[in-house]
Amino acid sequence: MCVPRLTLTALSLLLPAASAWSQVQLPDSPGRSEFEKLCRNCHELARSVSKQQDRDGWLATMSKMTAFGMKGSEDEHRAIVDYLSRNFGADALPPIKINEASAIELDSGLGLRRSQAARLIAHREKNGKFKSLADLTKIPGIEAAKFEAKKDRILF
Ligand code: HEC
Repeated sequence: MCVPRLTLTALSLLLPAASAWSQVQLPDSPGRSEFEKLCRNCHELARSVSKQQDRDGWLATMSKMTAFGMKGSEDEHRAIVDYLSRNFGADALPPIKINEASAIELDSGLGLRRSQAARLIAHREKNGKFKSLADLTKIPGIEAAKFEAKKDRILF
């Protein structure tokens, strides 16, 4: 009796994770496999890299996740902190793929409010891919300055 319900629940948990995963950009460098192993267990990987911060910041995040119940050996934890501080450090910001970015990525990458990220995505779905900075400034309700400030990181 409850099999279909269970299946649906499992699907609704898995699907968002799968789509966020396909969008997140993971640089291929040492520590990636440890990161993928440990950081996708409780939430999508996009959330795991939704911050850019220095080593101390990532150490603090690791302690927080450990407190939530994250497992893994000391070596794995060290490899992950290295990986994250190298690739998602305060000064090593990843590009923002404006035509693919999820709400979380727009939120953290461009400093958009949630409602603005939703507007951008709705605009993208309705009008197709953005081709230039000028296209972005046509979205109602988002200040052009938000894009101007990050224009070097925006990929079309
Ligand atoms: C045992 C479950 C668990 C695992 C494994 C886990 N997380 Fe989390 N994570 C959480 C929970 C629960 C939240 C939401 C907490 C909140 O919003 O304050 C979260 C939120 C986050 C956030 C956003 C909010 C914040 O507090 O910074 C980041 C970044 C994050 N996790 C990174 C990671 C990374 C990196 C890994 C792998 C090293 C990881 N998580 C593995 C449970 C986990």
